[in-house]
Amino acid sequence: MKKIDLLHAPFVQEMIETTSNLYRLGWDERNGGNISYLLQEADVLPFIDTKTVIRQIPMNFNGKELAGRYFIVTGSGKYFKNISKNPDEGLGIVRIKEDGQTLELLWGFTDGGLPTSELPAHFMSHIERLKVDPENRIVMHNHATHLLAMTFTHELTERAFTRTLWQMCTECLVVFPEGVGIVPWIVPGTNEIGEATAEKMKEFRLVVWPHHGIYGAGKDMDEAFGLIETAEKAAQVYTYVMAQGGVKQTITDEQLVSLARGFNVVPREGYLK
Ligand code: 13P
Ligand code: ZN
Repeated sequence: MKKIDLLHAPFVQEMIETTSNLYRLGWDERNGGNISYLLQEADVLPFIDTKTVIRQIPMNFNGKELAGRYFIVTGSGKYFKNISKNPDEGLGIVRIKEDGQTLELLWGFTDGGLPTSELPAHFMSHIERLKVDPENRIVMHNHATHLLAMTFTHELTERAFTRTLWQMCTECLVVFPEGVGIVPWIVPGTNEIGEATAEKMKEFRLVVWPHHGIYGAGKDMDEAFGLIETAEKAAQVYTYVMAQGGVKQTITDEQLVSLARGFNVVPREGYLK
């Protein structure tokens, strides 16, 4: 059966739109940032012949739990700025083989490129998020500017960091009541940072990488992007507040508790007095 041009696929359009927006927000300079989007076989079948494997790509970690799954992912070293111009070079569709150690490239990476170097953190995070939310589809990493800056000036405990973000915009507690996870500084692209990130993804949809950036996960692009946007906005407000001389008054814990009640969310236990 004749296939439809993949560039018309809604998930390719979403990847183009999102990477372009992220570039314009200044959170993905050069090749910074990466996105992985879990697809169903039915999503890709109208567009590609899933029996034709372009090449095999070895992985140096075990992704057996994702065997048979399809992802569209951003390429390593690819500039988000350029993805809209050359989507088939900057993006690739891969399927994880039964051995859990090899990827089958089905489309994209036309210049011989590889998936993001952060694939361990992405795939390990998908594995953990799917256990708590079978609807999870997206893992997104970027270098959101104010959050990154905050990791130099703010206490780096999850409780203190989360509380400050909650206090900076009234919406924050409603959007991420579970708070934000923080891993130690670890060399990017390693299995070690992947494992640390995935461990946090068991409980959080937002995970801060100190002095580097942030990870967000969600059931669709809007949720993952929206989470990062909201936390980043709070961090931006925090930056202005500090530049204006610091906090004179804030949202009290009592107010945060009534906010949670009003919006039917459960704030992470022990984070409010
Ligand atoms: P990639 O170009 O390999 O996706 O890496 C970018 C990045 O942000 C590393 O943390
Ligand atoms: Zn990065």
